[in-house]
Amino acid sequence: MSPEETPGLLHTVWNYDFKWTEDHVEADAKQPMKYTYDTLAEQALERLDLISPPPSTSSARQAIQKAESDQSTQPAQRDLYALLRDNAGKDEVLATLWEEVNRVPEWVDWEQIERGQKVFYRYAVGALTGLAFQGLIGGMASNRVVETLARTGGFNTKIARHRFFETFQHVLECTKSLPDIQPGGAGHASTVRVRLLHASVRRRIMKLIETRPQYYDHQAFGTPINDLDCIQAIGTYSSNLLFLQLPRQKIYPREQEIDDYIALFRYIAHIVGTPTDAYESPKKAKAWMESIMLTEIDPTETSKILANNIIKCLEDTPPVYLSKEFLEVGSRWLNGKDLCDGLGIGNPGYYYWALMAGQCWLSKVVAYTARAIPWLDELQISYFRQLLYRYIVEGDTLGGPSKFDFKYVPTAGQKTTYEDDVPRPAEAKAAFSIETVYLYAFVVGVLAMMLMGGLGLKLSVGLSRGLVGVVS
Ligand code: HEM
Repeated sequence: MSPEETPGLLHTVWNYDFKWTEDHVEADAKQPMKYTYDTLAEQALERLDLISPPPSTSSARQAIQKAESDQSTQPAQRDLYALLRDNAGKDEVLATLWEEVNRVPEWVDWEQIERGQKVFYRYAVGALTGLAFQGLIGGMASNRVVETLARTGGFNTKIARHRFFETFQHVLECTKSLPDIQPGGAGHASTVRVRLLHASVRRRIMKLIETRPQYYDHQAFGTPINDLDCIQAIGTYSSNLLFLQLPRQKIYPREQEIDDYIALFRYIAHIVGTPTDAYESPKKAKAWMESIMLTEIDPTETSKILANNIIKCLEDTPPVYLSKEFLEVGSRWLNGKDLCDGLGIGNPGYYYWALMAGQCWLSKVVAYTARAIPWLDELQISYFRQLLYRYIVEGDTLGGPSKFDFKYVPTAGQKTTYEDDVPRPAEAKAAFSIETVYLYAFVVGVLAMMLMGGLGLKLSVGLSRGLVGVVS
């Protein structure tokens, strides 16, 4: 145990304070987890490839190039979930994986999972803001994880936007309804696809290392998509959202909501092949998040490239048309100054900070009002459920649900670099940006505070006069 890991010791890391406890995870315990991973999915993938061979690397590259030149065109997709389901009876390894993903652990309580799904929509605006700014942009400070991401090319500016929304598709499918996350549901199937997609990425990089060890430093970065990084990734969607992303927007989920949301992601971890113990309780999940922040977050040059590419590809795009400055301030608000300085993210002026304050007030007022009135809460949840799914998955954004096939195949010598030439969707640069709404929210917020301050002052003057009258 290092002196840093003494119970009771206060840590400040990336503008976040926490106290080390017995639940925190020592560096020595995390180290071996950089090399352990989901071997069952990888064995299953070998079997599935024999049954239905994947497209060759060169044809996969052609598919990417086609997708790059025509963003609305999706290359034909191989559905690994359907292959697994249809062949589970013919092979022992496939049967084992099929049984594992369909087995419902005894700790799963469906009522709790259903409540957990609703938490995402109750705090929808804050949750989307948190996932985009902290989860995605701030997530690029995970220095080992970005080495895998940079080699799949998925965060070059041409495809990052599409990939970003594919990630949201997965969250939306997992939270759409209870049957969607139960075995056989769309969210469940997508999670199994993602598990097999991860196995494809890992196997491809490991194969490249066999002949070109300099391609990826296995010792330093760990096995691609290893157990530790998967625990961290589940945390990005869950513990980070509850303990970091929402609180930094001054939104505090209730204890029951925290229990329920962690339980939902513990179950998702089970399906996607991630060790679930880390999510046994909110206390443990929070301790894991903090332990990871202490040792695994430290931006590198690759982190800077990916974070800035993401900002570039999200700038001025539908549906919200956010400016580069707003995206930078949002990142700073959610990740803190130190991390954003490390990521090389700009620091725009007060105007954009006021906009971000307006957005936080607005999402807080919406969420807190709705959660206080049960019928309004249900209405808001179902509104955001339909709106986000319709817009992101069914609408022009993705143009229909993705099957998460392996598109961005790593190739020797290829790594994402800085890019300035960002392709814009045809409808980019709208006359109306949601920043206008945030500006109004800020002005209304300031007026409301002044009004309350004035009323408070009057009240206290009145009270003290009354008190003086009583005493004299
Ligand atoms: C265990 C929790 C995780 C979940 C729920 C998850 C979710 C997803 C989803 C939904 C996709 C498909 C959409 C997309 O292409 O972005 C995806 C793809 C991908 N994930 Fe993960 N992920 C997790 C962990 C990780 C980790 C730890 C890494 C490490 C770098 C990683 C690397 C990738 C890569 C490289 C792809 C893209 C593969 C391709 O399309 O070429 N994921 N993941």
